[in-house]
Amino acid sequence: MTVTHIIGSFAGLETPLLVVPVFSDDTALSGWAAEADAALGGAISQARDAGDLAGKKNDAALFYGSGIGSQRVLVLGVGPKDAFDAEAVRRFAGRAVRRAESHSIGELTIRLEGMGLEAEVAAKAAAEAATMSAWRFTEMKTRPGEADEDDLEFRVNALGLSVDGDDETVGEAIRVGETVGRGVNFARTLQSRPGNVATPTHLADEAARMASETGLTVTVMGPEELLAENMHAILAVSRGSVEEPRLIVLEHGGGSEGDAPLVLVGKGLTFDAGGISIKPAKGMEEMKFDMSGGAAVMGAMQAIAELKVPLNVVGIIPSSENLPSGTAMKPGDIIDSREGKTIEVVNTDAEGRLILADALSYAQTFDPAAIVDCATLTGAVVIALGHHAAGVLGNDDGLVEELRAAGERSGERCWPLPLWDDYMRQLDSDVADIVNVGGRTAGTITAACFLSAFVGDCTWAHLDIAGTAYGEGKRPYERKGGVGLPARLLVEWVRSRAG
Ligand code: BES
Ligand code: MN
Ligand code: ZN
Repeated sequence: MTVTHIIGSFAGLETPLLVVPVFSDDTALSGWAAEADAALGGAISQARDAGDLAGKKNDAALFYGSGIGSQRVLVLGVGPKDAFDAEAVRRFAGRAVRRAESHSIGELTIRLEGMGLEAEVAAKAAAEAATMSAWRFTEMKTRPGEADEDDLEFRVNALGLSVDGDDETVGEAIRVGETVGRGVNFARTLQSRPGNVATPTHLADEAARMASETGLTVTVMGPEELLAENMHAILAVSRGSVEEPRLIVLEHGGGSEGDAPLVLVGKGLTFDAGGISIKPAKGMEEMKFDMSGGAAVMGAMQAIAELKVPLNVVGIIPSSENLPSGTAMKPGDIIDSREGKTIEVVNTDAEGRLILADALSYAQTFDPAAIVDCATLTGAVVIALGHHAAGVLGNDDGLVEELRAAGERSGERCWPLPLWDDYMRQLDSDVADIVNVGGRTAGTITAACFLSAFVGDCTWAHLDIAGTAYGEGKRPYERKGGVGLPARLLVEWVRSRAG
């Protein structure tokens, strides 16, 4: 998908599909919608008079006619004008691209001037959402479904964007949006690949390929290096599988040498069967998505490198399978960790916090300014926040607030939960330093409490993305499956730190 800034008049426009928004509180058509209406002999006004285009969020009507440069005009209702924010632009752009796709139209133009939005915000949001909307995961289909004649190769590939603002500002905002969108799509592709393809080794290979293309430094640690670093918790989780674990480290040196980096850590559990504490069969296939945090960190690091963010940033992805077998760790086992604490494993399905414990301990060797981890860590976060927001918890209220705000701006919401000492006591073990499960209550909080025991005195926050990393694809720029979240939030946060 290539996005370009269109400068020029409606009259001179030649496009197979022009998409314009109408607000629910518009009393009359304005701008290009008005010009298109005039050129179409009042067809758009007639649709509005008939009540079909009141501007409500799901209103849509397609017009054809001669006398205008565009072959088709699609008018989309976008709700009230004062609620037209970055997320509304993303949804508008997503609907436009999907409509183009359904007509097998490769190119479209959308109009966003005079919408009361900053040019930068509008252009970035539209470019990002269009890039995300055009993405599809088809690499493992060899033929279309029997019933439809779906062209698997077809992609909407060009978007012209008409926004207020000078060419340089808008051009730069478009570049940022496209870059972030491609980072998200990289994460979604990795998420979509099944467990038999996207193994820890595969994630490491993809990280190495991406690093060589973007100029990141990559280090991959296997079983021997993990053992040398005392990462016994990662090794314990991977013991049930024939697939070797990996710890992937991606480094971006955008800042001055010696400047404390921001460290992003992502859970890269490529298939979570639960281990000996095995999960029920129903829905277990979804546990290929248990590497979503790792995928998002890889996508975010790609974008951060391509955007040349002037900060030092490190991405760390601990990666393993969690399977039952004769060599797997067992409930009741007590394992060591890199940090030195012994861990009583009462439930082998609480494995994410184990691999993260070692990764968070290792993260401190970079003397970070802050650590942010993201993980599909607990089913409990779905009960707490549903599928609409990730949970955010940490040992620094300022950092938690930065992430909440970055999530709001980027369209990947997260909401704070407390990390009080009272919860920490649920992790007391009779036989070891800490137990890996804190009982049935407050599961998301006690999981984060567990992680907090491995971050030392670092400024740290954790995003629990179990309810948001994959889903039904309800937003127009998403699809069923991997969402790529929180790649956009992470890039937004890192960029905000760069000022
Ligand atoms: N990967 C799961 C969490 C998860 C649940 C992700 C639902 C996506 C959707 C994690 O490893 C896990 O199994 N957590 C357990 C912890 C429990 C054993 C304390 C859970 O949430 O049930
Ligand atoms: Mn698990
Ligand atoms: Zn898991």
